[in-house]
Amino acid sequence: MNKMYDIIVSRRTVRQFRPESVPRLVLERIVEAGRLAPSAANLQPLEFILADEDAVRREVFPCLKWAAYIAPAGNPAPGREPTAYVIVLANTQVREKGFEYDVGAAMENMILAGLTEGVASCWLLSVDRDRLREIFTVPVTHKIDSVLALGYPAEEPKVEELKDSCRYWKEADGTFHVPKRKLKDLIHYGKF
Ligand SMILES: Cc1cc2nc3c(=O)[nH]c(=O)nc-3n(C[C@H](O)[C@H](O)[C@H](O)COP(=O)(O)O)c2cc1C
Repeated sequence: MNKMYDIIVSRRTVRQFRPESVPRLVLERIVEAGRLAPSAANLQPLEFILADEDAVRREVFPCLKWAAYIAPAGNPAPGREPTAYVIVLANTQVREKGFEYDVGAAMENMILAGLTEGVASCWLLSVDRDRLREIFTVPVTHKIDSVLALGYPAEEPKVEELKDSCRYWKEADGTFHVPKRKLKDLIHYGKF
């Protein structure tokens, strides 16, 4: 075990955040980790909008859908909203299709980079892209792919062994539980 491995295997999506803002420098380091992610053919079609000011955060929040299996119970509670967002764009003039692999790599890089600084996050694909395009005046040349919601964590979701359902759940005390398939059900040694 080493520190990086520990961060990777203990990473959990967080949807409740403390109100302290994340310093701009830390947020820039997170985006930097996204910028340097692997990119197919090294085309680097991704661009990033960093949104951490109060007024814009208030506009972004209603564009996001949280924890669909248990909605609305998984929504950030009032005062527990994310304190920053990275909106990940694909420049279709650089790459029209197939940029989603790059998005995946950049998102995971940013998620893990955040955790090295104590910053938790939630990757959101269920977002109101039309409204986000208006808020950030995104040109038609750029697709809005994902949003990374960030902040200091106010919850500690627990990983569970998946039994009969992949649905996550929340206990009455607010603890979030995330079932994961067992390694022995997914790993094939030598042949299928
Ligand atoms: C591509 C992708 C899209 C996701 N979109 C959302 C979303 O729109 N809203 C949300 O609350 N969580 C979203 N998530 C977070 C997943 O719900 C979460 O990763 C999953 O439940 C497993 O939990 P874990 O990240 O703690 O392992 C998304 C995750 C991925 C990888």
